[in-house]
Amino acid sequence: MYNAKYIIPGLIIFALLFTFPFWYNLGAVTYEPVELELPEDFDDCIESTEFMRTEHMKLLDEWRDIYVRDGYQLYWSELKEQYFLMSLTKTCMDCHDNKEDFCDRCHDQTAVDPYCWDCHHTEP
Ligand code: HEC
Ligand code: HEC
Ligand code: HEC
Repeated sequence: MYNAKYIIPGLIIFALLFTFPFWYNLGAVTYEPVELELPEDFDDCIESTEFMRTEHMKLLDEWRDIYVRDGYQLYWSELKEQYFLMSLTKTCMDCHDNKEDFCDRCHDQTAVDPYCWDCHHTEP
């Protein structure tokens, strides 16, 4: 006979430990809404605002990999139905030309400090 008294708590502790990075990070990425300087000439980002809010870091990571490793330069946006150059400076910063009052304002609050600007220009 297995002893459920020991096995079940054991499983629960294992599940908590195993998923620790996941729920720990959930807390880390939440942020209070801050006032952001949004581009005036456009209504939308390259994908939905919700998607951009939570996924822009992954998108940029993918862009970098695809651009640098595979040499492919264009990104198709379903939302805008157009291609964008996979470029941090020439695309993102072309619309979001106020880094201080957009990117930084959000990052400062969540204590994120992307090192991208060591090499990339903030203006096209
Ligand atoms: C064509 C212009 C344009 C480009 C290119 C663009 N954005 Fe945006 N972005 C916008 C606009 C306009 C909004 C505000 C949308 C709204 O009001 O809901 C926005 C919203 C966002 C948001 C959400 C802000 C919030 O309200 O929480 C993030 C994050 C973001 N953009 C990051 C990026 C990144 C990173 C890139 C490059 C991968 C990029 N954007 C490229 C125009 C652009
Ligand atoms: C709505 C708030 C918000 C805006 C606006 C925003 N970011 Fe972020 N960004 C975040 C958060 C939160 C993280 C950290 C996510 C995490 O820890 O997983 C992050 C992470 C990143 C990362 C990854 C950093 C790392 O060290 O892993 C990059 C790159 C980045 N943002 C680029 C940008 C750029 C470029 C802009 C402006 C065009 C921008 N972000 C605007 C909230 C924002
Ligand atoms: C040590 C210098 C360095 C750092 C730091 C760096 N990059 Fe880059 N990145 C490069 C170089 C070099 C290229 C290739 C440029 C080319 O071939 O035109 C590149 C290309 C890219 C590209 C595709 C082309 C373009 O014009 O944007 C993206 C997207 C990108 N990097 C994103 C990032 C992001 C996001 C960060 C921060 C999380 C980052 N990079 C940090 C050096 C750097």
